[in-house]
Amino acid sequence: GDAGGGSGGSSPFYVDSDGLQRQIDELASFSDSPVPSVTRVLYSDKDVQARRYIKGIMNQLGLSIREDAVGNIFGRWEGSEAGLGAVATGSHVDAIPFSGKYDGVVGVLGALEAISMLKRSGFQPKRSLEVIMFTSEEPTRFGISCLGSRLMAGSEELARSLKETVDNQNVSFFDAADSAGYKMHPEELHNVFLKKDDYFAFVELHIEQGPILEKEGIKIGVVTAIAAPASIKVEFEGNGGHAGAVLMPARNDAGLAAAELALAVEKHVLESGSIDTVGTVGILQLHPGAINSIPSKSHVEIDVRDIDEKRRNNVIEKVHQSAIEISKNRGVLLSEFKIINQDPPALSDKSVISAMEFAAKQLNLEYKLMISRAYHDSLFMARISPMGMIFIPCYKGYSHKPEEYASPEDMANGVKVLALAMARLSLQ
Ligand code: GLV
Ligand code: MN
Ligand code: MN
Ligand code: MN
Repeated sequence: GDAGGGSGGSSPFYVDSDGLQRQIDELASFSDSPVPSVTRVLYSDKDVQARRYIKGIMNQLGLSIREDAVGNIFGRWEGSEAGLGAVATGSHVDAIPFSGKYDGVVGVLGALEAISMLKRSGFQPKRSLEVIMFTSEEPTRFGISCLGSRLMAGSEELARSLKETVDNQNVSFFDAADSAGYKMHPEELHNVFLKKDDYFAFVELHIEQGPILEKEGIKIGVVTAIAAPASIKVEFEGNGGHAGAVLMPARNDAGLAAAELALAVEKHVLESGSIDTVGTVGILQLHPGAINSIPSKSHVEIDVRDIDEKRRNNVIEKVHQSAIEISKNRGVLLSEFKIINQDPPALSDKSVISAMEFAAKQLNLEYKLMISRAYHDSLFMARISPMGMIFIPCYKGYSHKPEEYASPEDMANGVKVLALAMARLSLQ
């Protein structure tokens, strides 16, 4: 196709936009929820099908494929100086419940198209080029985000906690991995860890997931930093009882404690004094979940983020204090207050930023330096490699919902910037 923004046709440096769109639609069909939504949870059958699909494309491109113990997938195009640190790109294809087709996917299929166009153009890499499909960027199944990249970056804490981790059906992490074809001994998690000089650079292509580029009519976002995410699990326990027979003064309602905590999260976030502080209660579960039974248990999961780590930590501390107060006032037990992750922000590296800027200028694409408010595998790759991210506009900034959309033209721009930036880094 010639939807690649005018450089198609005679030039070999074109994006096959039709092919890329076809792949995006095909991948979206591996979903556990109806079109147009996508649901693809770690180690589910659909996730396994998506993995097979990605490896199929890597194969067609002649990349050599490696899979680590947890299923991070690496497709490598060997450079002429294969001993040097490689230049890597990639993202994820797992999708949270009832989300869209583009989050993560553009950074995997788009990266493979970037490799394809570099091959078509006759480019010879010096440093090897690699596309990574990360395992479980989303926290859906086991509650921990960026599982694959967090391990690649050497998180002993995660390697330890995975030994006790189960999903909401009580399936252990290792049984789930086994069912997807990744049978491992817990100690093998350490084989996922990478070394600091394995990569010379890591660049991730992603939809913005926010409205800025579209609103300002700018084609490319060059990410300079990724905001600091945290997540917390809270559990309250009360006596429960009959919704008709237990009179109001005699109750200790675990559900109301959860509701009050959700409102406290909003209050503490709003009091931070910055528009950059955000907090969400995306999970609130009541047990036994019957209309005529007072909730005897509640389960709340809280997501708090900020570009300023100290300010975010301050919110977490206040939320903790509120949870303690609420449990006292309501006579319920605060049986768990667990910080699942409390990650620092990450900065992009100058070397990668300048390669992205060079590429955008070369392609005559207006770009903007910006921060990423969403987290990405890049947050963890930054711990072991110089990192950068390329954003493209998406419709109204929609993401994590079925209406998510990026145009073929915008994706083609992102793919071209990625290809040129990688080519440049490869020759350094
Ligand atoms: C990841 O998808 C995030 O929530 O930023
Ligand atoms: Mn996401
Ligand atoms: Mn994503
Ligand atoms: Mn993300």
